[in-house]
Order: sequence, then C-alpha cells, then structure tokens
Amino acid sequence: MDRPFLLAQISDLHLGERARDGVKPKGCLRAVVAALGRLPDPPDAVLVSGDVAEHGAPKEYRLAAKTIGRLGVPIYVLPGNHDDRATMRASFGIPGEGDAPIDYAVDLGPLRLVVVDSTIPGEDRGGFEAGQLGQLEAELAASPKPAIVAMHQPPLTTTMADWDGVNLPAADRGALARVIARHPQVKAIVGGHLHRVASAALAGCPVLAAPSTYLQARPNFAAETVELYGGAPGFAVHVLRGEELSIQVEIVTPSGD
Ligand SMILES: [Fe+2]
Ligand SMILES: [Fe+2]
Repeated sequence: MDRPFLLAQISDLHLGERARDGVKPKGCLRAVVAALGRLPDPPDAVLVSGDVAEHGAPKEYRLAAKTIGRLGVPIYVLPGNHDDRATMRASFGIPGEGDAPIDYAVDLGPLRLVVVDSTIPGEDRGGFEAGQLGQLEAELAASPKPAIVAMHQPPLTTTMADWDGVNLPAADRGALARVIARHPQVKAIVGGHLHRVASAALAGCPVLAAPSTYLQARPNFAAETVELYGGAPGFAVHVLRGEELSIQVEIVTPSGD
C-alpha cells in the first residue's frame, strides 16, 4: 500500500514564557517532539502555526529550531501575534523582506502548503493586508495539487464575542471564503491561536485550530469567558493519501519538565 504523506502540525509554543500550572513551554515542546518522534510512521514535514516565541527573541527561535530539528525533517513556520516577523524570517531563512507579511507556498511532494500571514503587528486579532488574498488566489491558481492553507488565526467563530474579537474578523473570514470557494483542491485551512482543538468549515472547506504545545483554553460558553490552564498539549497530523486528506489530533502527556 502506498505510504501516505504526513504533515505534522504543532502550534503556540510560546517559548520564553514562564511556567504556569507546573507547565513549562520548553518541557512541553520537548514532550510533543518526542511523541512525534515515536510515531510508527514519522512525519515528512512539520508545520509550526505561530506563537513560536513569547517575546519574538532570537534565542527563542533558536530553541524552537533546535528542538523541532531533532525530528530531522523540514520545518515550516508562520507568525502568530506573539512573534516578530523580521526575527522569525531571519531565524528560519524565510524569503521576503524584514517585517513584511510572511506569505509563501511550498511543494511538499504530493501536498502543497500555502502559508498566509494572518497577523497584524502589535495586535492579538488577525487580519489581511491589501494584496495578500490576491497573492493567495494566484498561488492556488498556479497548481491543482491538493493543498493545505495555513495561518495563525483560524477562520472560524468560537461563538463568543470577546474570543472572536482576538481572532480573524468576520469580514476577513468572508473575503478568504470567496477565494477558497474558487479552489476546491484546498483540503483544509489550519491554524492555532485558540489553544484548543476547534473545527468548522469555510466555503465547505474544513478548518482546524490545532492545540497548543503549552497552555490549553477552557471556554465557559454561558459566561463567555476563556481560561488558560496547564492541560495536556498535543499536535495534529495531516494525512494525505492520494486526493484524500484526514486530519488527526493526538494528545501528549506533558513531562512537566
Ligand atoms: Fe498562542
Ligand atoms: Fe496567538
């Protein structure tokens, strides 16, 4: 049987942040990377969907590259609201200039990964600059290959006004939906930011928010509040076999390291 292509996704590492509830960002990332390394079939590549560094410091990115680099597979990163575009770009050798949005597309064998920078520097909420969705449209028009579109703030609603207020606004979601609707080879849109596994659909395309490798979110929907706590971290694996994509999530026992 053909071996599927496996893209692992980790998110919201927040390296450099303090320990909370006995959970340290570095120890949790190590536990998640170790769990990825123990998979029966190792991932072919790793996507890191933002909030890699708590303070956007070079040493935080070096730690991420070194720790995830133990897997020995290509690493693709994108910025979250805690990241510094220019430092991330320099640290990972991402094409483009300085603090310009980090948008790129890569062919990963049978899968195309298209990264769209959904961050607005200095803000927690997301949004797209003029021209970014036009560039996405051009990238998707360039190849019919099965694709995953990745960004930090996932294009879904939490149903809570305050939580949605720090996510991707409805207008940006709508504009993205119009692009996605024209490109059915997009198998999924994936992000992080929510520190919770959440799923929805945009223009009929699955949307996933991956868990954090650090703190997890516990919403109270009636009170419309969200609490971050030191729950078990996890990762997602995007499994592509032929034209079919399966999104799977695994929870990891934290080391407390
Ligand atoms: Fe985060
Ligand atoms: Fe975030």
